[in-house]
Amino acid sequence: MACAPLAKSKPSAVKRKYVNFVNFNHEVAQHWAIFLMGWWLSMLDKSKVNRRFSVAPMLDWTDKHCRFFHRLLSRNALLYTEMINVHAILRGDKARHLDFDASEHPLALQLGGSGAHLLAQCAKIAQDWGYDEVNLNCGCPSERVQSGAFGACLMAEPQTVADAVKAMRDACEIDVTVKHRIGLDKNESYDFVRDFVGAVAQAGCSTFIVHARNAWLKGLSPKENRDIPPLRYDVVHALKRDFPELEIIVNGGVATMDAVTEQLTHVDGVMVGRHAYHDPYWLAQIDGAVYGDPQTPLTRIEILTQLEAYARAQMALGVPLRVMTKHWLGLFHGEAGARAWRRHLSDSKVLALNDAACLWFGVAR
Ligand SMILES: Cc1cc2nc3c(=O)[nH]c(=O)nc-3n(C[C@H](O)[C@H](O)[C@H](O)COP(=O)(O)O)c2cc1C
Repeated sequence: MACAPLAKSKPSAVKRKYVNFVNFNHEVAQHWAIFLMGWWLSMLDKSKVNRRFSVAPMLDWTDKHCRFFHRLLSRNALLYTEMINVHAILRGDKARHLDFDASEHPLALQLGGSGAHLLAQCAKIAQDWGYDEVNLNCGCPSERVQSGAFGACLMAEPQTVADAVKAMRDACEIDVTVKHRIGLDKNESYDFVRDFVGAVAQAGCSTFIVHARNAWLKGLSPKENRDIPPLRYDVVHALKRDFPELEIIVNGGVATMDAVTEQLTHVDGVMVGRHAYHDPYWLAQIDGAVYGDPQTPLTRIEILTQLEAYARAQMALGVPLRVMTKHWLGLFHGEAGARAWRRHLSDSKVLALNDAACLWFGVAR
């Protein structure tokens, strides 16, 4: 049976005003809620370090002068300090070890050491100094590091690492991450690294940077340990499959953009070390290719201009030119005249003059 439409009574002027007022305020409140939610999400996003691409920690290489240079090449890549020993931080000249240029963010401090208490103190210092992440080295195989019972040999003691990570997390609010190998010596059992990651994840670590090689603790130098133990990416991919909730970053032997892209189909991020150091201008494509950043990268000439200004400012603080230029020698890698430029900037007589204009040797401004 069809119902006759109810006759609508006309609302009074007062009621209309009231309804308009309520509707208006409702809309304003909705807009505010959406704005605030967006703001809050963007804040959350900012506090989360994006690790899709990072430049590896490298002792004697990734110091602040190197990182300043790398930051000119990529606005988004996560940068790591060299490994810094906890005792150097706690007893040494903190500013010398920890200072960095504000442009270096996002930036992680890598710690070498063991002992939950010491690591926790350093994690708090890392946060206070302004780092975005603190990372524990469980991958260095050097004998010196082994004698200090840290680095790769910590992989044999997952509970020690878990306790350290828990203490570090309790001491600070920045991300605590672990960089490690896939095994020790000739033990190629997947269970070993799976159990290590499982135990450390239980302590609250959710990011693991995995150098896809075993560390051979006896018989190989640190340099050989970066080349001779075979790369086994499948082990890192298996970790991501077994721990889908964890952030797994692969490291070791990645040297092309295709390899970066391919790895990103298996894991959450890629860390590149030596290739980024030797051919730094390769980093200029990372922002576009990995982060979809539409900004055009700086040209080599623009970079040189900024490096010259930086060098002059640092020299005014007493930093010798040679300390900086040694990290910049790869800028023209693969370009005509690269060798002559490198040779000029490696000449001790040239560097002793401490004149940043030498950066322009053979380069048309
Ligand atoms: C000169 C040099 C120094 C390194 N120092 C460190 C370090 O301080 N901490 C660390 O975790 N790994 C260190 N590594 C290892 C790198 O972080 C990285 O795991 C290794 O080089 C493999 O990555 P790649 O093949 O992309 O270079 C160093 C590597 C080099 C070449």
